[in-house]
Amino acid sequence: MADQKFKGENEQLIDPVAEQPGFDDTESRIAILGHPIHAMSVAFPVALTFCTFAADLLYWWTGDPFWARAAMWAVGAGFLFGMFAGFSGTAELLLVSGIRARAAAWTHFIIAVTLLSLLGANWGYRLYGYETAVLPYGILLSAVCVAVVAFTGWHGGKLVFDYRLGTAKGS
Ligand code: HEM
Repeated sequence: MADQKFKGENEQLIDPVAEQPGFDDTESRIAILGHPIHAMSVAFPVALTFCTFAADLLYWWTGDPFWARAAMWAVGAGFLFGMFAGFSGTAELLLVSGIRARAAAWTHFIIAVTLLSLLGANWGYRLYGYETAVLPYGILLSAVCVAVVAFTGWHGGKLVFDYRLGTAKGS
């Protein structure tokens, strides 16, 4: 590629992104006593998204309106907790130079915003009649939300366990 830089006698390849100041600064700033708030808060939207789909399936199976109401509460709470998790993640992304510099962190942001939009749509749709909303579009939206939340969570784990973003430097 034209913009790749070469250095030294052996023409060693240099990654210009890795050369940016603060590239190695990846430690969490949005944290309580060093424990990242984002990692603590993501469990709620993940679990509530799965609960929404389960409640929709139970409504489909039993016809009991209780499950349609449970699904509406679950997806509403999932959306609001997801927004909270999203704000803490976005603050981390913008404030920590080593996180901001990595493309993978921005990829995670795009997947997560897609998820939050789907959760918001799924909740808003049910506010106009939580029972009639379930079949077929509510449950279909919930199935898509489960797939996207699984992808978001897996990708977030990749940021932490592969790239070590948000973690303290090894001692
Ligand atoms: C909307 C904006 C979001 C941004 C910018 C963002 C950013 C990040 C960042 C930078 C990390 C690395 C760890 C850290 O620095 O705390 C991370 C981890 C993670 N994210 Fe997000 N995130 C967002 C939303 C979400 C949402 C909505 C979910 C799931 C519902 C999610 C799931 C995860 C998971 C599971 C991890 C791994 C946590 C761990 O294992 O410690 N993220 N995210």
